[in-house]
Amino acid sequence: MSPSKNTEPTRRLVDRFGRVHNNLRISVTDRCNIRCFYCMPAESVEFMPRDHLLSFEEIERLVRIGTTLGIDRVRLTGGEPLVRRDLHRLVERLANVPGIVDIGLTTNAILLGEQAQQLRDAGLKRLNISLDALDPEIFERVTRRDSYDKVIEGIAAARAAGFSPIKINAVSVKGLTEGQIIPFAELARQTDTEVRFIEFMPLDADSQWDRDKVLFADEIVAILQAEFGPLEPVPSANPNAPANDFRFADGVGRIGMIASVSQPFCSTCNRFRLTAEGKLRNCLFSLEEVDIRGILRNGGADAEVADAMVASIASKNEGHQINSATFVQPDRPMYSIGG
Ligand code: 5AD
Ligand code: SF4
Repeated sequence: MSPSKNTEPTRRLVDRFGRVHNNLRISVTDRCNIRCFYCMPAESVEFMPRDHLLSFEEIERLVRIGTTLGIDRVRLTGGEPLVRRDLHRLVERLANVPGIVDIGLTTNAILLGEQAQQLRDAGLKRLNISLDALDPEIFERVTRRDSYDKVIEGIAAARAAGFSPIKINAVSVKGLTEGQIIPFAELARQTDTEVRFIEFMPLDADSQWDRDKVLFADEIVAILQAEFGPLEPVPSANPNAPANDFRFADGVGRIGMIASVSQPFCSTCNRFRLTAEGKLRNCLFSLEEVDIRGILRNGGADAEVADAMVASIASKNEGHQINSATFVQPDRPMYSIGG
């Protein structure tokens, strides 16, 4: 069936470089139940006041308006999205917005044991689990919390609820996570799990990022090849996918690299972000934001919200400047942007 005329986008979110944006990542809270060092400070985190957070009604309205501009997929992020009460109700609302074809969620899995089934029932299609180590001790060094068993329980609940494949994102840090690469590859080869390694990016609250702490995709590939033999690149079905996927020589399992630092994929970026307090960010690394909450709460019309989205995308830069000497780390660390 062809889409009916009234859900056909009237304008599209195209930037100065011709990139069409259809993918909105929505942060629902900046709170989190762990303290990963590459994202959050160890102590005295200042969270957003609750009345600053967009309500589910406000998020739904924004997404509805977004569909008239070609947004057709959304992903819920945090902080940790599952600490936002009744998140499945938001999933349900968004799943019912005409024009939305895909809803994903990025979570640390700690609360999935309790929520996996209701999220699935509400219409959640895809789940990405952030887990950087299979060794509980390394997990605790990364997260500064002792929640490893909860994560494993959460992953089991996700499988039981029918999420398949299970996708794991593992941030890779030099001198810390090298020993996790082979165990993750074995997990990917033995179970219905897709593992993707992400290069550590300069978005940490403590501004401790340094190039020397990035475990680069090429280095990870070398570690894998030393163990399993040659890896073969798998052509991507989706041109906007940030991961480079590889097959093992024996044909069993696959593994992905998100080489944000060493091989930026900005030229095919179709994503933009909404912070929990209703600011639009056209890039993870943008230094400017567009305030949507102000428009929503001041009685702004749908057209005004749509214009603000168009303006945000129109001012998007070509890509991040992590590899340039003039790079400026944004004031917002990852937990208040949403991954
Ligand atoms: N560098 C790379 N990845 C990060 N993430 C959070 N902070 C960073 C960082 N500084 C990851 C999370 C999650 C996704 C949303 O982004 O672990 O998998
Ligand atoms: Fe898109 Fe910005 Fe990420 Fe590049 S750095 S892929 S432009 S969000």
